[in-house]
Amino acid sequence: MKVTVFGTGYVGLVQGTILASVGHEVICADIDEKKIADLKNGSIPIYEPGLEPLVKENFESGRLKFTTDLKLAVEHGEFQFIAVGTPPDEDGSADLKYVLSVAETIAVNMQTPKIIVNKSTVPVGTADKVAASVQKKLTERNTNLLFHVVSNPEFLKEGAAVNDCLRPDRIIIGTNNSDVEEKMRELYAPFNRNHDKVIVMDIRSAELTKYAANCMLATKISFMNEMANLAEKLGADIEAVRHGIGSDPRIGYQFIYPGCGYGGSCFPKDVKALIKTANDLDYKPELLEAVELVNEYQKTKLFEYFNAHFAGNITGKTVALWGLSFKPNTDDMREASSRVLIEALWEHGVKVQAYDPESMNECQRIYGQREDLALVGTKESALKNADVLMVCTEWSQFRAPDFELIKESLTDKVIFDGRNMYDPKLMNKKGLKYYAIGRGASV
Ligand code: UGA
Repeated sequence: MKVTVFGTGYVGLVQGTILASVGHEVICADIDEKKIADLKNGSIPIYEPGLEPLVKENFESGRLKFTTDLKLAVEHGEFQFIAVGTPPDEDGSADLKYVLSVAETIAVNMQTPKIIVNKSTVPVGTADKVAASVQKKLTERNTNLLFHVVSNPEFLKEGAAVNDCLRPDRIIIGTNNSDVEEKMRELYAPFNRNHDKVIVMDIRSAELTKYAANCMLATKISFMNEMANLAEKLGADIEAVRHGIGSDPRIGYQFIYPGCGYGGSCFPKDVKALIKTANDLDYKPELLEAVELVNEYQKTKLFEYFNAHFAGNITGKTVALWGLSFKPNTDDMREASSRVLIEALWEHGVKVQAYDPESMNECQRIYGQREDLALVGTKESALKNADVLMVCTEWSQFRAPDFELIKESLTDKVIFDGRNMYDPKLMNKKGLKYYAIGRGASV
C-alpha cells in the first residue's frame, strides 16, 4: 500500500520506517531540507536504538523515500499520515499550526481520494478541524474529491520506539466509516498478530484515548512521588511500599517508580494540554492539576536535599552529575529533571560537571559554553574534584559503579540519587552518605 508520512520527527520517522519494513511503499516528507538531505545520506536526526540500520535498509531497498517535495508527497500515498509536532502554546494548549498546514498542503495538491491519518497527539476535535480545513480548500478548488480523516494515535516510547511500533499492544482507529476501517486494518495487518489489537471507535474517543493514557501514567508517577514524600516524613521506605503495593495485580509494578519527576516531550505537554481543554470547557480538572504540581515540585527535590545537607552553604561547590536525558536510552532532554536541577545549582553559584552516555551534544546545544558547566567524557571524570555526586537518569551503566572510586574522588562523601538506584544499606557500608527519593537519608 502507498503511504505518505508528513513529519520526520520521532513519530513520523519511526512509523514510516516500520511501515516500509513490512513492504508498504512509504514517502516521508518534511519541510526541513537539511533533515531530509541527512536522512538520504543515512544520518538520522535522533538517537533511537535499532532505528538507523532499519532506515538504511529500507531506504536502500527503495521502499522508504525522503522528500521535501510536498506536491509529490501528496500525490504518492492513498494514506496521508500527519505526524508533525504539536508544541505547547504559551497557555499550555497544543499548537495546531503545523497539523493544519499539512492538512492544507494535502487539500491543495490532492488529485485522488485520500485517507488522512492523524498520528500527532492532538486535542479532541482536531480531526474535525482538519476535515473542515481540507473541505474548505477543496471547495475553493471547485472539486468534490473524496477524503476521510482518521484518528490513529501513536503509543511509542522513546528508547523503545522501534519495538513498540513493530509490536504494538493496541492499534486505535478512530473512524465512523467501515470502508476506511477496512483499509486501515489492511495497512496494519502485519502488526496485528496473535490476537486482534485493532480497537475501532469514534474519532473523538480515539483522540481522547491518547491523552487519557498519558495522563493516567503521569498520575501513577505523581501519586507515587507524593507517597514517597510522605514516606520520607513518616520514616518509611517508599521502595518497600512500592514492592508491597505492586504485588497487587490491580495496581501492578509498572510506572510506580518514584523519582525526581517525569519529563520528556509527552507527559508534561499532554497533561498541560488536557488541563487547558478542560478549562476551556469550564471544567476544573483538580486531579490533573495536582499531577502537574506534584511533578514540578518533584523536580526540585534533589536540589532541596543538597541545599539542606549543606545548610544553605552551597555557593562555590562542584557537583558531579550523572544523567542528563529525561530517561535512559535517549538523548532527549526536553523537560528533563536534570535541567531544573542544573539551573537551580547555577543560580546558587554551584558548578556542574556532567556526564551522560548520549545527551552531551544536546546539553551543549541547549546551554552553550559556560564556566559553570563542564561536559566530560566519562562518568569517572565527572567525579574529579567534585564535592558530591547527583544522579538524574537511571542509565544501566550507572547501576553498579565503583563506589570506592566515588568515595575517594568526592570531597564530601555524598550521593543524591533521583532514581533510587542504590541500596541504602550498601551505601552505609561503603561509608557514603546517601539521599534517595522517599527513603530518608542514610548516614
Ligand atoms: C510516553 C508514554 O509512556 C508512551 O506510551 C507514549 O506513547 C509517549 O509518552 C507519547 O505520548 O509519545 P515517553 O515520553 O517516551 O513515553 O517516556 P516514558 O518511558 O513514559 O517516561 C516518561 C517519564 O516518566 C520519564 O521521565 C521517566 O523517568 C518517568 N517515569 C516513568 C517515572 O518517573 N516513574 C516511572 O515509574 C515511569
